[in-house]
Amino acid sequence: MEKQIRSQGKEEAVKDVFEILKNDHKLVKNLFQEIMKEKEKNEEIFAQLKSELEVHMEAEEKHLYPRLENEEKIRELILEAYEEHALGKELMGKLEGDPLDEEHWLTVIKVTSDVIDHHIEEEEKLMFPKAKQIIGREEQQSIAEAVMRQKQVTSGAGEEGMGKISKEEIEEETEEDTEEGESI
Ligand SMILES: [Fe+2]
Ligand SMILES: [Fe+2]
Repeated sequence: MEKQIRSQGKEEAVKDVFEILKNDHKLVKNLFQEIMKEKEKNEEIFAQLKSELEVHMEAEEKHLYPRLENEEKIRELILEAYEEHALGKELMGKLEGDPLDEEHWLTVIKVTSDVIDHHIEEEEKLMFPKAKQIIGREEQQSIAEAVMRQKQVTSGAGEEGMGKISKEEIEEETEEDTEEGESI
């Protein structure tokens, strides 16, 4: 069957769906940090954050949660996760909608970041480990493919080079943070 995925060489293998989602989490957390560090409303980073979050949540809601929501062992976590997504979206809408004054905006971004942090923590510590036990290897791979496809469609074409912060840049930046201190 052509569906089989060869495991020779890391590059050839389809990425682990949970790793894909965890990478998104890392990016989203970093974008929140960037915004809060600047202590002012940064429209550009906010726009990127919003789009990353939307694409990520949509991928989970379309391809991961439905597969798990009727599994007794994990149902409660999934139902909670849908609610946390809804809350996250509502808060993001608030940040985008009403013209909040900057102090209020920064307060709401902090609260949103806390909500999303909590959600990410639950996914990574509780939901994903259980999901790995429920979903077999092969099915995990087809979910990974569906998530990748979905992300390509929803994040739209031509996003490269538009002044966006890439995952790689964010990762580099975090590494640099720990190495800073030596100048010249
Ligand atoms: Fe989620
Ligand atoms: Fe997630």
